[in-house]
Amino acid sequence: MAISVTILPGPRVLDAKPGTTILKAAHAGGVDITATCGGRGRCTSCRVKLVAGTAPPPTIMDELQLGDALVREGYRLSCQWPVTEAVTVQVAPPLDDTTFQILGGERPAGAPEPISLDAGIDKRVAQVTLPKDEHRQTSDLEALLAAVGSIEHVPPTVLKTLPAALRARDGEVTVTTFGRDVLAVEAGDTALHKFGLAIDIGTTSVVTTLMELESGEQLAAVSSLNPQAVFGGDLMSRIAFAQFDPGNLRKLQTRIIGLLNQHIEQISRESGVLTKWIYKVVVVGNTCMHHLLLGIDPSYVGLAPYAPVVRHPLILPARDLFLKLPPEARVCLLPLVAGFVGADAVGVALATRIDESPALRIAVDIGTNGEVLLGSRERLWACSAPAGPALEGAQIRHGMRAAVGAIDRVAAEEGDLRLHTIGDGPAQGLCGSGLLDAVAALLDLGVVDWTGLIDVEGRDRLPAPTRARVEMRGEERVVVLARPGEHGAEREITLTQDDIRQVQLCKGAIASGVAMLRHVAGVGPEQVEELMLAGGFGNYLSIRSALRIGLIPPDLPEGKIRYVGNAAALGAQLALVSEAERARAEVIAGRIEHVSLAAHPDFETIFVECMNFPRLPPRTEGVRAG
Ligand code: FES
Repeated sequence: MAISVTILPGPRVLDAKPGTTILKAAHAGGVDITATCGGRGRCTSCRVKLVAGTAPPPTIMDELQLGDALVREGYRLSCQWPVTEAVTVQVAPPLDDTTFQILGGERPAGAPEPISLDAGIDKRVAQVTLPKDEHRQTSDLEALLAAVGSIEHVPPTVLKTLPAALRARDGEVTVTTFGRDVLAVEAGDTALHKFGLAIDIGTTSVVTTLMELESGEQLAAVSSLNPQAVFGGDLMSRIAFAQFDPGNLRKLQTRIIGLLNQHIEQISRESGVLTKWIYKVVVVGNTCMHHLLLGIDPSYVGLAPYAPVVRHPLILPARDLFLKLPPEARVCLLPLVAGFVGADAVGVALATRIDESPALRIAVDIGTNGEVLLGSRERLWACSAPAGPALEGAQIRHGMRAAVGAIDRVAAEEGDLRLHTIGDGPAQGLCGSGLLDAVAALLDLGVVDWTGLIDVEGRDRLPAPTRARVEMRGEERVVVLARPGEHGAEREITLTQDDIRQVQLCKGAIASGVAMLRHVAGVGPEQVEELMLAGGFGNYLSIRSALRIGLIPPDLPEGKIRYVGNAAALGAQLALVSEAERARAEVIAGRIEHVSLAAHPDFETIFVECMNFPRLPPRTEGVRAG
């Protein structure tokens, strides 16, 4: 099914295949958009501005090339924008004075600093004079040091490679350093090969992104379920499994390291980048995931007062984690804030730049162990919001990850449900965005009431097509979303009463987190400039559905809410390509004031209230930029 893309000035209306970039669609339709770097996200010539529709969450290339201010205004690189719904964009519109990053002009007062690309990995080509004279004793290392000044620590793993590297190309070598540490010495000139990995370890999902460190170009990404989930779906059950049991702790660590090594192998195969050229890794994750990766016992993270073992940023060689990378490649773990506010929250703050905002903003990271941040450049609060894995497709009867065939959009239309699947494939299950839409549509249709009950008894009031989808199966209340044959489904896809309870737990945790932070900070809805929804759901989260089910406070107008994609992963990518951003992470972690919800006397009342769905008529405001 083609999607309509309208390009201004003109206008030219084009039909694009879902997933094609706007740049490719424009070129195929004969519309000229300049692509100086060939569509690799390395320039700004293909920029477009959203006029109508929804802009995708920014990628790291959008952030690096355009800067946060333009991204907020709805600018994107058209070569990085896959078409998923009808949109209207303006090509390279006139730029105003906020466009300092593009034009290289003066930076307006108060505008954030542009992100500097400096991953901290330095590669120097040197000509080493090999030891020749028996009478003048020297060594390979001394010969190397003589050729390359300012290096200090050459570890034994690199020493082992020296004799072969120095002699393979008559002494021509490339020396890779991070600070004053030598990470590798390679034969010949390999200076152009400089790559890194950004890894987001979530309780349910793990995402690994390969990046070219010089340009910030994103080359490949792999995601999969966290294999530790078989030992417990949420944090507390995973901590309980590891608690005071070194054998189980080792099992959890082995699982995650095994998965990371699979990701490394796959990403190298898909991109053609050799693993020996991956020198830096940045990892974000919640406190428990962080500790388990390091093999640190998280027992005390699960017991009051929930103290982490370490909160500092850490840097360690890849060999310490048995990663299939150069043994001295540097693995950088971003700092933690508290037992249940981890480096993922710091990543969200980095990516959303909430810490630099003159106005109050809220960032909600929806995940199994979600987090909410509220603040500005003055103060910053955070709390955990354990939403459970429902929106990541887990613990839902027909839940699945966002992949071809996942129902990612559901709408109530003409008294029935209209479904859309990723890639228009045969329907196989529901992913997070589809689950949220489905519940919103069922609320709109009156199938589900404000307490979350599937109202089987009241189905006679429903329009005939919907009525036929609502039934009791023994003791269980179900809604049939797709019957075999509908949308190519091979089996029936249902939404059960338990599934809706999972969604209520999820949205109750998030909404009460937001409500409590606003309560603690004494902030009314009018003082909040923006609420940013973050998380990886495969497709854009529908703001309207999020509001309809009360995932976010209904007192915030739709125009103030923006979906920013997987911000924790974007934060890891920024820290990967910019040492300044990695340093900023430490400052942010030090600034965040942790709010413990469970300890607050009003929490339980607010949580129970937030579990219910809003008894509001559905909103019908239009779509917006950004
Ligand atoms: S063509 Fe260069 S960034 Fe899109």
